[in-house]
Amino acid sequence: MNIASIILCAGKSSRLNSSKSKILHEICGRPIGYWPVKTALEVTNSKPVVVVNHQKQDVCNMFTGYFGDKLSFAHQKTANGTGGAVKAALANLESHCQSVLVLCGDTPLLTKESLEKLISIQKNSHVPVALLTARVENPFGYGRIIRSNSQHILGIVEEQDATPIQREIKEVNSGVYIFDVEFLKKNIKKLTTDNQKHELYLTDIVKLYIKSSAQYGPVGSFEINYEEMHGVNDRRQLANAQKILNKRMLGQWMDKGVTFIDPDNTYIEEGVDIAKDVTIHPGVHLRGSTSIDEGCCIENGSIISNSTLEKRVHILPYTCCDGANIEKNAQIGPFARLRPQTSLGKGVKIGNFVEIKNSQLKENSKASHLAYIGDSEVGSNCNIGAGSITCNYDGNKKHQTKIGDNAFIGSNSTLIAPLTIGNDAYIAAGSTINKEVGQKELAIARTRQSNKRKILLN
Ligand code: UD1
Ligand code: CA
Repeated sequence: MNIASIILCAGKSSRLNSSKSKILHEICGRPIGYWPVKTALEVTNSKPVVVVNHQKQDVCNMFTGYFGDKLSFAHQKTANGTGGAVKAALANLESHCQSVLVLCGDTPLLTKESLEKLISIQKNSHVPVALLTARVENPFGYGRIIRSNSQHILGIVEEQDATPIQREIKEVNSGVYIFDVEFLKKNIKKLTTDNQKHELYLTDIVKLYIKSSAQYGPVGSFEINYEEMHGVNDRRQLANAQKILNKRMLGQWMDKGVTFIDPDNTYIEEGVDIAKDVTIHPGVHLRGSTSIDEGCCIENGSIISNSTLEKRVHILPYTCCDGANIEKNAQIGPFARLRPQTSLGKGVKIGNFVEIKNSQLKENSKASHLAYIGDSEVGSNCNIGAGSITCNYDGNKKHQTKIGDNAFIGSNSTLIAPLTIGNDAYIAAGSTINKEVGQKELAIARTRQSNKRKILLN
């Protein structure tokens, strides 16, 4: 069966009180609209059609950024309701599609399993319309599902159009449907704006089906957990959706063998990869394209973005890594900061209050305390003493520092770039170095100490 999908993203986001479309607000590292599109792509075999209007250009750019040309866009010129949105999308459907799923762009928690269930209901019953419903304690604002005595769906009534008795109904429309394409094309033309909101309600399609002479049995439905249809209409719902999705994702990592000391207080974005036997302590954020290999341990409060950690890397508390590549058995932190283009060799040790940017430190080198290493190449087995810094910036340009293997940089050295320090060189503590230091040379550049006898004035 060829199944297409339409994702409705053209509505305004007034309740979010934001200058950007709600489709673009992020949860777990991806815009809200990314999630339903990702799920639709997993269960369909035709280009999803995304309906846009409000902040059209930004929304299209976001989708293209993540999905390239796997999607097509339909423009709903005026926001005249969900029926109008689907109408605008129909011309984009690929001609071979028999069925089409309709999802809302603001419901990121819908699962692949529920969509598969909906597809199978239609496949088995051949009914031209089926939908997902949910039961909710407070159904305010949702379309209510009206059923007959024999429990067949008779229609969907929107909040504004419902009678007081209908408002008591706790089974609500999730806004997720599957339609037979021919049926949808024929009936969408019949929708009217004869309702309280003066909109074309997609939900009225159900009524049209019930009224039609060509019935194929009752409207299909499947009840999902309310959590899955959780919309994002305001900031509270945004925070809650983030919490639910994060919990779900951490559950999947636990199934794959990752230990979390406190899963409620650990945050992992989509796009992160974690191997088994990794231990993650509370307050850790893993972001972007981070990849963490077996046996790593990341301690409290560390934020790792777009970084690669090889086997058994140990990140001590409150470390920030962004765009770093860390080879196996290295130990970083506590309170270290690795900035983009940092590359650390096997067994490197970086201690507290050390900042590294655009630099490479080879195997077993150490910078244990209070240092800045920028635009540098540091060989293997070097020791960068406490308080040492590379002066890489002259106020205008950045310059390189090269330090050979086995070099010893004494504490509080000031290395003024551009600078080359040879293998096995030794820089005496407190030196300000601005000339090349050759292999095995000792460089001392500091004023000599002189001790004077204390003069007593009275
Ligand atoms: C809709 C359903 C309601 C259901 C609820 C579930 C209708 C008439 N009602 O109500 O039964 O319980 O969803 O969340 O369909 N959109 C467009 N163009 C428009 C209007 C909306 O693309 O002109 C998009 C929105 O961006 C959103 C989705 O359609 O992603 C739903 O629209 P919204 O206005 O939130 O519908 P509800 O009133 O919540
Ligand atoms: Ca809504």
